[in-house]
Amino acid sequence: MDITLHNEDFFDSVGRVADASVDLVIADPPYGLGKDYGNDSDRRFGEAYLEFSRRWIDAVLPKLKPNASLYVFLSWQYAPEVFSYLKTKLLMVNEIIWDRRVPSMGGSTRKFSSVHDNIGFFAASRDHYFDLDSVRIAYDAATKKARTRSIFVGKKWLEVGYNPKDVWSVTRLHRQDPEREDHPTQKPLAIVERMVLASSPPGGLVLDPFMGSGTVAVAAAKHGRRCVGFELNPDYFATAGQRVAACAREDLFSSCSDANAAPGPLTSALGTEVG
Ligand SMILES: C[S@@+](CC[C@H](N)C(=O)[O-])C[C@H]1O[C@@H](n2cnc3c(N)ncnc32)[C@H](O)[C@@H]1O
Repeated sequence: MDITLHNEDFFDSVGRVADASVDLVIADPPYGLGKDYGNDSDRRFGEAYLEFSRRWIDAVLPKLKPNASLYVFLSWQYAPEVFSYLKTKLLMVNEIIWDRRVPSMGGSTRKFSSVHDNIGFFAASRDHYFDLDSVRIAYDAATKKARTRSIFVGKKWLEVGYNPKDVWSVTRLHRQDPEREDHPTQKPLAIVERMVLASSPPGGLVLDPFMGSGTVAVAAAKHGRRCVGFELNPDYFATAGQRVAACAREDLFSSCSDANAAPGPLTSALGTEVG
């Protein structure tokens, strides 16, 4: 397991990462919404936020391999401008909507309730690595049975499952969720595992500039990828280290770092899509 985590400012330390060495960037920056991460990093708004976004993007670009990919988590407030900037540098492959499956209760009275995050998926070239087979979703028995007519016989897609769509419905991590750590915007492992499996080769290097509780590092460790991550807050940094260490301990007894292991939580958490 080759996971290197730094309790350092990404901007000061990005030089630790060799140019043209990264297969995949998964960036979950502060969204510019004023969250408390124990530092001022989410207290940039308007033009200051966009300047911050351009700065981290410009810092990661030289690190990408020619067939690398980049995912960025954002919300509707700044996604249009940040995606527009990224489109001047990389190819935009998808906008993925993370439907956080927020239950309907009360909510806004002067607008529609916002229940999604916007994830941009970008690639350095048309040759970007993409392993669809590792993230296909199996058809359920009823759907398979309904497609037994001769035109479907022998169809690979019916056996191997279908391509995930660009709306990912995954419940946000509640306080009671066993996966939940003490971080205000921790992302579900299931989402990040799908990105790691689809967009980085086994043994490839994943870069996380804003690692928080270390979800990207855990997904990388679990699936046999290398990872380098940066986090300002010492408590979150410690959490990330503990999560990766727990994954390493599990590895002694199970297939935690088996590059071909099926993403257990992903299948159940994302398996609600309709084929
Ligand atoms: C949205 S959170 C990431 C959450 C993470 N994806 C997870 O699942 O836990 C953003 C994190 O970036 C950290 N951060 C902000 N600016 C940073 C910087 N310049 N260098 C390193 N970390 C930074 C914040 O402290 C915060 O924990």
